[in-house]
Amino acid sequence: MDVNLKKVIDERTSRRKYLKTEIEPSTAEALQNYIQEISGKSNLKMQLILNDETVFKGFRKSYGMFSGVRNYITLVGKANDDLQMEKLGYYGEQVVLYATALGLGTCWVGGTFDRTSCKAELSAGESVICVIAVGNVKERMSTKEEFIYTMIHRKAKELEQLYISDTPIPDWFREGMEAVKKAPSAVNRQPVKLTYKENEVTAFVEDIKNQGVALDLGIAKLHFELGAGGGVWDFGNFGKFVRK
Ligand SMILES: Cc1cc2nc3c(=O)[nH]c(=O)nc-3n(C[C@H](O)[C@H](O)[C@H](O)COP(=O)(O)O)c2cc1C
Repeated sequence: MDVNLKKVIDERTSRRKYLKTEIEPSTAEALQNYIQEISGKSNLKMQLILNDETVFKGFRKSYGMFSGVRNYITLVGKANDDLQMEKLGYYGEQVVLYATALGLGTCWVGGTFDRTSCKAELSAGESVICVIAVGNVKERMSTKEEFIYTMIHRKAKELEQLYISDTPIPDWFREGMEAVKKAPSAVNRQPVKLTYKENEVTAFVEDIKNQGVALDLGIAKLHFELGAGGGVWDFGNFGKFVRK
């Protein structure tokens, strides 16, 4: 299925309550094919695990944040590689938006799951960096989901806090920033800042050594690229964006 990932940015929000129904076979197949395509293109290891409730089951594993999770995507990597973390964010978010376009709920999960019972296939030196919960959800959020959303979004940043520029910004940059504002980030800390100077755009975070922050950088870069109407990023902290 061909999808316009930019269009689904507005529809995506982290979902934490999933229905117990299986993902439709044709939908699961489309998602599986897309994950394979992205993994091949990026040389990253992502796997869709269907019908395995063990990694989120029980209050202890998810701190009561999630319910009904039975499918997830594992993001696997080797420790201490900032660029790889950023790439997992960039490409993982493509998968998140694709799943959203298929009508599925998603949530990036860095902490509240049981890493040890994860069904990822690991080679020597590899570990599960994080997972993306995925599955069928009700169209409307449950009261508890809304409560968690409101709590985490209380300190959401204004657009102007997310970029630095000495001059007025062009529309394409603003549209890119609107998409960055809607990007998921761990505990919604929105750590990524962009700079605009004479048509040159860069993105940076203060704490690139923090794995979660490096993931957030990749996610924000993808959102900017989609919002700005296309272009190419250099990976790395302070990487440059070249507009299409
Ligand atoms: C790298 C990463 C890790 C995350 N880990 C968790 C987690 O462990 N538990 C959780 O409930 N949400 C987690 N989230 C979801 C964020 O809380 C959520 O993206 C943020 O609050 C913004 O909300 P939104 O995604 O609904 O726009 C994570 C998000 C990212 C990007």
